[in-house]
Amino acid sequence: MSSSTPPSLLTFPEALSDPDAWLDPFDWYAARRAEAPVHYDDHRRCWDVLAYEEVKTALGDDETFSVDPREASDYRSTGGEQEFLLETMLFQDPPKHDRSREVVEEFFRPSAVAALEPRIEDLTHDLLDDVEGDRMDVVDALAYPLPVIVIAELLGVPSEDRDRFREWSTTMVASTDGDGEGNGDLQQRQMQAGMELASYFGELIADRREHPRDDLVTRLVESEEEAGFDETELLGFCMLLLIAGNVTTTNLVGNAVRSFAEADHLSGFEPDALGPAVEEVLRYRAPVQAMSRVATVNTTLGGADIAAGDRVVCWLGAANRDGAKFDAPDTFVPDRTPNQHLGFGYGTHYCLGAPLARLEATVALRVLFERFDLLEVETDDLTPVRSSFIYGVESLPARIERR
Ligand code: HEM
Repeated sequence: MSSSTPPSLLTFPEALSDPDAWLDPFDWYAARRAEAPVHYDDHRRCWDVLAYEEVKTALGDDETFSVDPREASDYRSTGGEQEFLLETMLFQDPPKHDRSREVVEEFFRPSAVAALEPRIEDLTHDLLDDVEGDRMDVVDALAYPLPVIVIAELLGVPSEDRDRFREWSTTMVASTDGDGEGNGDLQQRQMQAGMELASYFGELIADRREHPRDDLVTRLVESEEEAGFDETELLGFCMLLLIAGNVTTTNLVGNAVRSFAEADHLSGFEPDALGPAVEEVLRYRAPVQAMSRVATVNTTLGGADIAAGDRVVCWLGAANRDGAKFDAPDTFVPDRTPNQHLGFGYGTHYCLGAPLARLEATVALRVLFERFDLLEVETDDLTPVRSSFIYGVESLPARIERR
């Protein structure tokens, strides 16, 4: 997720390097997929997988497609926070992956997460209480702060620090744009953000060793012996949760409001209909559009001959719009069933935080629609999040009326 993560994932394909194109990458996906399900991109030196079945095959086969970027034949380390993140489950293959995931799984099970619902509801009300006047920015007022506060509380970090988290995590997922100006500066800032975050969590971990509490950082500290976690893995895991848990959920809520507005669904949904509508947002505008893998052996995928050590980008956002899998793939259908989208990935690395993300999004949207009529959500002239694999908008202004 930094300057040092493989260029394949962090660099925009040339066709999408213009920020306007990034707001709508779906035509590009469709055109490329119509040519072939799997393509090689000389510029980014990687394979792009764009069809549903092939994305699922790659994500479902850890032996052939490793998640560890160090397997790539052209891998080179540039240090920084990547060293920490590489020691987390996100970049580990089984069996090491399974051991890491087991340590924290209990915190993220649907039953454990369900207990957070009243707190998430209160937090949503508190955030909406702060909205004044007849206008609000849905991202700034709700979609951004809510997931950060929730993950901060789970980890046990003070929520006063959340503005610093926003800065750190958005910097770390920002993408370079090919040869664009300012990339050197961005890389410098990414390195700096990673180091600051590592030092912040280093202090928190030291504190919990002395003063254990009922939080996730304490649980991780306790697991050091039990699961053989070392300091680097602990730091990496805290950083992973912070980044994975907030940028993504922010964009799920933002993408939902945007999609509902375009489909004239701003009067909200019946309680039972909101869950399926959120699933459709995960398909139609997946907050995470792509994930990276490396072939471990010479293999064939979708007719392409992939060599051991080649990097492979699995486009979840493209798989989710594949007409071979979904009827009317480019239409937002809030009650779509079945809906086997790949918005949370697939297989071994299927999102650990999926139950939490689903709960946060449904509670946030339910309370938002209970309290406000969002009369005009401005969906023209949007600014996309500057990232080649995170999909969302920076802000979503709306005129509101209280109910
Ligand atoms: C993994 C998406 C929210 C923690 C993943 C993956 C995806 C994803 C696509 C698979 C990565 C891969 O295959 O390489 C999302 C989306 C979210 C979201 C779209 C919100 C809408 C969260 C939250 C947390 C979280 C709230 C935690 C608080 C993780 C972790 C992994 C992961 C730890 C790695 C799992 C593993 O390697 O076994 N997520 N995520 N995510 N996610 Fe999420």
